[in-house]
Amino acid sequence: MTLMETTPQNVAPDQSPAPAPAGTAPVIVTEGLTVGYKLHRERKRLTALRDISLSVNRGEFVVLVGPSGCGKTTYINAISGLVDPWEGTIEVNGRQVTGPGPDRAMVFQDYALMPWRTVESNIRMPFEFQNLQVSKDEIDERVRRYIELVDLTGFEKSYPYELSGGMKQRVGIARALVSEPDILLADEPFAAIDAMTREAMQSELERFVAKTHQTVIFITHSIDEAITLADRVVVISFRPGQIKEIVDVNLPRPRFDYDVKMLPEYVELRDHIWRLVKDEALQSARGEKR
Ligand SMILES: Nc1ncnc2c1ncn2[C@@H]1O[C@H](COP(=O)(O)OP(=O)(O)OP(=O)(O)O)[C@@H](O)[C@H]1O
Ligand SMILES: [Mg+2]
Repeated sequence: MTLMETTPQNVAPDQSPAPAPAGTAPVIVTEGLTVGYKLHRERKRLTALRDISLSVNRGEFVVLVGPSGCGKTTYINAISGLVDPWEGTIEVNGRQVTGPGPDRAMVFQDYALMPWRTVESNIRMPFEFQNLQVSKDEIDERVRRYIELVDLTGFEKSYPYELSGGMKQRVGIARALVSEPDILLADEPFAAIDAMTREAMQSELERFVAKTHQTVIFITHSIDEAITLADRVVVISFRPGQIKEIVDVNLPRPRFDYDVKMLPEYVELRDHIWRLVKDEALQSARGEKR
């Protein structure tokens, strides 16, 4: 079974307006978004992101890249409703975000699995905590299907401490996809996965979102992963993170059906994004610009 064979049915119709057709309307709109944290021990405030204005269309695949600590996780946490903005607005499907909702699913950077729950029980969680209109039989079928999809069949009854890092990450991916959300917010979802499996999962994800028209915001430190997956790559500057440049990636899809990395346009894009990221990464390493 592959991701292509799954049939998404979007969630709870009363939670958000009917999604617009792919590519025609903005689904996620952030305007002048500034987000930070109160550092209680040091009695100061840290601005993580400053003045981010970005509009993401339905079915679009947007990838965020930038140095460690530039606010990428903070950005998708704000969209998912886990962190409140200091300034600016966030709208999803035309509604102001006031908290988490079943239209948005997260793959967390640190997996965020419940250690006392088995693989199967972790993946089942969205159905317990969100008001999804899905029958018990359909839930059982989807849980089985998504466990198979991330290649964890046989590990249903295992606990997180019995899994490798890559396996835990795959549980997190299955848990985000199982509710078949309108919007997928994925925080370095393939970072702990070995190179071969990672490429296979990138390819499956590309096919999956092409079929489902899910809107995706995806974070990675890999420029190759960014270019092979993205419609647009958003390069974020070092803290406080601001949009340094938005790079359109107009390479033909599906990109895993041919050797996209051999195209001269790919090589140019890679070089361009690498130069953008390098300056910021150097500043990050030196701890400048606080
Ligand atoms: N809960 C928190 N409380 C206080 N500061 C935080 C919190 N979460 C993040 N920060 C700070 O906000 C800044 C941005 O963090 P964030 O996790 O968004 O960065 P990132 O771009 O995702 O980095 P990485 O690539 O390392 O994952 C960092 O300086 C971090 O220390
Ligand atoms: Mg992060």
